[in-house]
Amino acid sequence: AENWVLTATAQTPTNIAVIKYWGKRDETLILPVNDSISVTLDPSHLCTTTTVAVSPTFQQDRMWLNGKEVSLSGVRYQNCLREIRGRAGDLEDKEKGIKIEKKDWEKLHVHVSSYNNFPTAAGLASSAAGFACLVFALAKLMNVKEDHSKLSAIARQGSGSACRSLFGGFVKWVMGKEEDGNDSLAVQLVDEKHWDDLVIIIAVVSSRQKETSSTTGMRESVETSLLLKHRAEEIVPKRILQMEEAIKNRDFASFAQLTCADSNQFHAVCLDTSPPIFYMNDTSHRIISCVEKWNRTEGSPQVAYTFDAGPNAVLIARDRKTATQLLQRLLFHFPPKPDTDLNSYVIGDKSILKDAGLEGTKDVEALL
Ligand code: PMV
Repeated sequence: AENWVLTATAQTPTNIAVIKYWGKRDETLILPVNDSISVTLDPSHLCTTTTVAVSPTFQQDRMWLNGKEVSLSGVRYQNCLREIRGRAGDLEDKEKGIKIEKKDWEKLHVHVSSYNNFPTAAGLASSAAGFACLVFALAKLMNVKEDHSKLSAIARQGSGSACRSLFGGFVKWVMGKEEDGNDSLAVQLVDEKHWDDLVIIIAVVSSRQKETSSTTGMRESVETSLLLKHRAEEIVPKRILQMEEAIKNRDFASFAQLTCADSNQFHAVCLDTSPPIFYMNDTSHRIISCVEKWNRTEGSPQVAYTFDAGPNAVLIARDRKTATQLLQRLLFHFPPKPDTDLNSYVIGDKSILKDAGLEGTKDVEALL
């Protein structure tokens, strides 16, 4: 019997939306009601590493997340696997004497091992990085010859926001018009070098699992919020153009204003939903006030904030010097305490700790 194993590995950072995706027009295909724009984190920041293996000895598709087996039976996983298998190419590894033809992939099973570089329990485990990484690793393994945008439309079917993690830098998810969703995909606006002054700090405000999943939340917002309809039709199309302009020009003032306004509007839509959804908590609100006050005192925005479907704050500082000051301020005003909701701060590059005179602190998790 044949007993070879072939593997492929990929690493994908998570992305943070600065113009939010909230609401699906098609739940099965995961087609959104508006375009969205995100920034992909540095690979040194929150990311997922996934290894996929294929062997004739594998009896079924299986997956492990941070070493624990998880089920692949959900429709989202099944859709991604099916779409990738359908595009698989011929593969030959002469050294190992392996030859796989297109049609063989249907019968071969895969094993998937995925790790987040941050404990899943921290409430930061992001499906965005996870599905993007899975799709990318599978495409590599199965010799799929499609560009990143085409792959993004597959990752989208795992988790909407995942489609934006196939690129670095700033990325737009174009909602598309077609019914089959083939034109609902991600495009890169600028690469990671275009605006590399920005520094992202994440305040882990609560490690608890969110109460309303994004799927349920979006469904209820689409069904009940008039503000969502207004946002999707009237507000976001204009904001997308303004945000593209701000990013192109590295105009931090406009960027911060749009980012904060859009996060606040997304949470207003949640409040406008029946029953209302509360993702932010008191600490989140206090962080917003603190940043707003700082920006006002400085006369121009220094830091942008944005919150997703949970209370954790994503703070974007205009440059390293500001990031250093931000970290000092956060630790002063919102020191992590074991018996409170505030757990820790997460940064990518630990050299900022040195600048801030904070080497050795346990309150900041430096991932690199
Ligand atoms: O892709 P999902 O189902 O995890 O939804 C993500 C929704 C937000 O994070 C709140 C916004 C966004 O655009 O990422």
